[in-house]
Amino acid sequence: MKVITTHSPSETQAIGEQLAKLCKGGEIICLSGDLGTGKTTFVKGIARGLKIDEKKVNSPTFVIMNLYEEGRLPLYHFDFYRLEKPEEIGGVGYDEFLYGNGVAVIEWSERFGALMPPENLAIHLAHSGDHDRGLKITAHGERYKKIAEVLCRP
Ligand SMILES: Nc1ncnc2c1ncn2[C@@H]1O[C@H](COP(=O)(O)OP(=O)(O)OP(=O)(O)O)[C@@H](O)[C@H]1O
Ligand SMILES: [Mg+2]
Repeated sequence: MKVITTHSPSETQAIGEQLAKLCKGGEIICLSGDLGTGKTTFVKGIARGLKIDEKKVNSPTFVIMNLYEEGRLPLYHFDFYRLEKPEEIGGVGYDEFLYGNGVAVIEWSERFGALMPPENLAIHLAHSGDHDRGLKITAHGERYKKIAEVLCRP
């Protein structure tokens, strides 16, 4: 587990961008943390790193997932904020995307409950000042350890 502190939205985006460049397809990135900690900001950075127009990325308010296919890899952007129970995830046929050939990013991944994929890169975001955020990065599974190491290199 490593913590990176960012001091602006663009610094948070830059880490997302760097992460995206390390992805080969099939990654699951689990974002957790309070409202306004920068999860969507981070996803915009991932989009940019995949050569997807980041301006298109916002929270999927009325659906559970937004799909962007015009980049280097497909981006599956989930937001579980409105999920009431994990079983609802089954309703969107999520397996196809979560375990697909793109990059799956999940905001409010804590709501996966027991359906949490065992292997994932977990990033917990927390406020640590008006413009400061702590990004706590934990790799679950071998493939994610390498990614986490590169991301956390000074
Ligand atoms: N270091 C930082 N990193 C990311 N966002 C920051 C930072 N400093 C300030 N901000 C601001 O915090 C807000 C983060 O909003 P964002 O929508 O990304 O959060 P979120 O975690 O997705 O929230 P929600 O839980 O509502 O989906 C933005 O207004 C952004 O400008
Ligand atoms: Mg959000």
